[in-house]
Amino acid sequence: MTHAAALIDGYGRVHTHLRISVTDRCNLRCFYCMPETDVIFKPRAELLTFEEIARVVRVLVPMGVNKLRITGGEPLVRLQIDRLIARLAAIPGVRDLAMTTNGMLLADRAEALRRAGLRRLNISLDALDASTFEQIGRRNGLARVLEGIATARRTGFDKIRLNAVAIRGLTEDQILPLAEFARQHHLELRFIEFMPLDGDASWSDEQVLTGRDIRRRIESEFGPLFPVPRSDPSQPAVDYQYGDGAGRIGFIEPVSHPFCDHCNRLRLTAEGQFRNCIFSQEEWDARAVIRGGGCDRQVADLARLCVQAKKAGHGIDSPEFLRPHRAMYQIGG
Ligand code: 5AD
Ligand code: SF4
Repeated sequence: MTHAAALIDGYGRVHTHLRISVTDRCNLRCFYCMPETDVIFKPRAELLTFEEIARVVRVLVPMGVNKLRITGGEPLVRLQIDRLIARLAAIPGVRDLAMTTNGMLLADRAEALRRAGLRRLNISLDALDASTFEQIGRRNGLARVLEGIATARRTGFDKIRLNAVAIRGLTEDQILPLAEFARQHHLELRFIEFMPLDGDASWSDEQVLTGRDIRRRIESEFGPLFPVPRSDPSQPAVDYQYGDGAGRIGFIEPVSHPFCDHCNRLRLTAEGQFRNCIFSQEEWDARAVIRGGGCDRQVADLARLCVQAKKAGHGIDSPEFLRPHRAMYQIGG
């Protein structure tokens, strides 16, 4: 097998996306992601350097990886993150470069990110009501995030999406305002079902507000939604068009409609561990290979081993389901 053989798992899924977490730190404390107190962050020396991250990407691109997403924690709290973006944007074969951010620091950073070559942004916004925002994020920050969104829009990214995690018993009354806000500002909104990745391990399926429930609410206000055929079967969201043609809305339903069958994503955690699934129980230590003086071929082999071990699906709905040992902020969203 050559060093550049594609990353294909045991179910024939060809892996072309890499999600790169650059830090486990964050300036919010969303309850569905982090514990409220006593958060233990990794010491800086344990995080991959920009050079190490770029090396992993340079190894994986010839193996078919062409889409990158930068995540965290909150990626914008990593110093000089625009330098990493510039490095990655310069790697031939990287066709898509996106970031998921909570938007808190975006007003200051949007321009530098765009200049460095970032093309697409997903900004998390679960509520438009300040007290609901604070209940979720355990910090205030709604005004800053809204300012960040406005700056990003002026900066001219190819695409800006809003991600809203939906929580039963908490965010029902945010659904219509968020939909209205996204339509007004020509942003695509995606609702995400709450997954068992919270730092306090207190998730229960009763807290999952499903895509179906949300669609019902949206349709009661805006009229029927029309499914948009998927252009890319691996995209996790099911998108719909509004009847009046004014925009789209999407639903990511990992709990009620798992989309594992078409998953083509590989993950790299901030401290350099490959994961083949957000719910994976195992990690493959790329940092040890790199810092142990391993060659590119060894990094490639490790990625291949990780992908080959990928399970058919996460099985949240099965009685054997086990939560990963790590919470969302430690894995990367
Ligand atoms: N369930 C669903 N989505 C989550 N996110 C963080 N934690 C969870 C969870 N437990 C979302 C964030 C962000 C993206 C990285 O993942 O809100 O939009
Ligand atoms: Fe921070 Fe994002 Fe986790 Fe919220 S979901 S605590 S914004 S990393």
